[in-house]
Amino acid sequence: MPMQGLGVFRIDDPNECEKTVYQALKAGYRYIDTATAYQNEGAVGRGIKRSGIPREELFIATKLWVTDANYNDTKNAFEKSLKLLGLDYLDLYIIHQPYNDYYGAWRAMEELYQAGKIRALGVDNFRQDRMADFVHFNKIKPQVNYLETHPFYQRTEELEYLNSENIVQVAWSPFAAGKFNVFKDDTLNKIAESHGKSVGQIILRWLFQRGIASIPKTTHIARMKENMNIFDFNLSSEEMNKILKLDKNNSVAGNRETAKEVNNFFDAFKNI
Ligand SMILES: NC(=O)c1ccc[n+]([C@@H]2O[C@H](COP(=O)([O-])OP(=O)(O)OC[C@H]3O[C@@H](n4cnc5c(N)ncnc54)[C@H](OP(=O)(O)O)[C@@H]3O)[C@@H](O)[C@H]2O)c1
Repeated sequence: MPMQGLGVFRIDDPNECEKTVYQALKAGYRYIDTATAYQNEGAVGRGIKRSGIPREELFIATKLWVTDANYNDTKNAFEKSLKLLGLDYLDLYIIHQPYNDYYGAWRAMEELYQAGKIRALGVDNFRQDRMADFVHFNKIKPQVNYLETHPFYQRTEELEYLNSENIVQVAWSPFAAGKFNVFKDDTLNKIAESHGKSVGQIILRWLFQRGIASIPKTTHIARMKENMNIFDFNLSSEEMNKILKLDKNNSVAGNRETAKEVNNFFDAFKNI
């Protein structure tokens, strides 16, 4: 899979989303990450079609929402996503959250995978305990796990575990969604200056050197190009260690451990 992609969460205006996907593909992106929950698969599909890029060059990922996460509803949800995207197969289909009957959903996804309708299967937001359970009790294990990952939330132990199982970690919110003053951080700015690069490029390069794929979101063409331009320099081990020290275990999404936190999450997405 490509190690750099474009995320389209919160690009709610359909015209803007279509244009963003089109521009990204024209700028050299091949990996687009969307989800049923983002409600923009149709716009993503129109952007793909407009680009005229041959299907086999693309890597398109979308996600199954929790209300459809059971054996009976997964295949319908998958067909709906495929239709909206204007595709006849998916490169990566992902269980968006570890809720509802996600084991049943996985059975249906395994069948779609075996039928050649999906090229790779993944999960999202599966913490270590969920992941270990899921890997242990499934015949086909996930090929990727999407996790919020950035300099202030590094998840080193989870990365080691995923590496040991040959599962690719994909960083969502690699820039901490712009929170925690990430672009103003002193350490990151000093490293960026010394390479003649931006803070965003340093973060994406740091993730890449850890073997983590990234899907930063931007609607600006200049930033799309900037975020892709990370393959002409190297961070030294000293620089990698300086970034390691920035870890504060600070999550943008916050904890979802108590019943109240999980119920608040369900409430926030109840219209999907
Ligand atoms: N699976 C999940 O549970 C989950 C959750 C959240 C996100 N995601 C995925 O991960 C993707 C990215 O996460 P995210 O959108 O939350 O946050 P992000 O990519 O960490 O940050 C996006 C923010 O950074 C800005 N930005 C992008 N490139 C920049 C650059 N080079 N310099 C300065 N600012 C820059 C964007 O602004 P502009 O757009 O104005 O450039 C936007 O405000 C999502 O789109 C989605 O696909 C998945």
